[in-house]
Amino acid sequence: MANLKPQDLQYKTKSDIVTHVGDEYAEFMGAIVPPIFQNSLFLKPTPYNGIPEDNEFVYTRVNNPTIDIAERKIAALECAEAAACFSSGMGAISAAIMHFVKKDCHIIAPHTIYGPTRTFITKYLAEKFGVTHTFVHGSDLEEIKAAIRPETTLIYLESPSSLVLYMQDIEEIAKIAKEHGIGTAIDNTYATPLHQNPYTYGIDLVCHTASKYMGGHSDIVAGVVAGSKEMIEQIAHEERELLGSCMDPHQAWLLIRGLRTMPVRVKAHGESGLKVAKWLEQQPCVKQVFYPGLDSHPQKELVDKYLKGGLNGLIGFVYDGTAEQAREFMYSLKMFQYGVSWGGFESLVAPGSVGLTDEEAAAIGMPANVIRIHVGLEDVDTLIADLAQAFEASKKVK
Ligand SMILES: Cc1ncc(COP(=O)(O)O)c(C=O)c1O
Repeated sequence: MANLKPQDLQYKTKSDIVTHVGDEYAEFMGAIVPPIFQNSLFLKPTPYNGIPEDNEFVYTRVNNPTIDIAERKIAALECAEAAACFSSGMGAISAAIMHFVKKDCHIIAPHTIYGPTRTFITKYLAEKFGVTHTFVHGSDLEEIKAAIRPETTLIYLESPSSLVLYMQDIEEIAKIAKEHGIGTAIDNTYATPLHQNPYTYGIDLVCHTASKYMGGHSDIVAGVVAGSKEMIEQIAHEERELLGSCMDPHQAWLLIRGLRTMPVRVKAHGESGLKVAKWLEQQPCVKQVFYPGLDSHPQKELVDKYLKGGLNGLIGFVYDGTAEQAREFMYSLKMFQYGVSWGGFESLVAPGSVGLTDEEAAAIGMPANVIRIHVGLEDVDTLIADLAQAFEASKKVK
């Protein structure tokens, strides 16, 4: 894990942070791009080998100079004190959750959290450690207060969620949690650290999958947790060192490269995303569009409070038709590739709840026939034309 250093604090804007924080040019012989320290171990000092006594590096599962740079940039972007990188988003999220888990404890979370996180809580932790949970809508503070039990140790949030983009009032929830001595963690991937910094609202641990906009090129799977120096240090020494989901130095180097252009990329995704979301709202095959930039977003006051005008390219919508027609729409797209991820340069489409019954969809907090698209960096008018021809094709299915 890396703590922010005094020299990192001189950079105030997110663009300056991604460009310069952690890049110790003098240490790396003036290299504008830092080297990849692709080694497992760092020698310990002896009276004869010339290794400085204060060399802090030990072994790449513990720390590594290339990974340190990524961690310092992300800690600064999240306005936190420290950050720890992981080999995947789920590595980061499971470590953050495990930090608060005790045998037989209770976790509160919104219905709409990312599927594998949900499974981790409802199956893995439940079956192995007797952990119980309560899912809540997330925007109803009274419902959250009512869900608190003496054994509740964590309120886990994801705001906005990554399919129907529901939000939570993270500042108020952090206050409630603190009053009850309960820990808090959030998946902040949708907002990115550019548009929402939950640590500044009192959330203990901020998690990201860096496989999305942080990496940005669909070439890494990576994760990160940011928070206080004390908590991140504990997570790095316990959950990361002991469970072992540490980042690889080459992965860190690609992540640093991705971070440098994240502000310009996300701005472009957001501009195109808003145009596509507004266009979708006008289409007869579309029942509802989920996108924080639309006036129709049901939690406009939370969007205005937290997202600071920040948009991106991820949109959910309800296809108005049969599951077969919804599938034909997805298969007929030519520019949007059919695949599950998002946050890279490319446009993607994936089924959200297409094929689920109303009951099954309601159980995961969304309507049936939700389709998710990611608006990539292609020309936005080309993308809209592609969506239009796929809607036409889907209508032909009886
Ligand atoms: C919102 C969200 N959180 C977490 C994850 C998990 O990240 P990773 O695939 O890097 O483990 C994903 C992956 O799609 C995601 O969309």
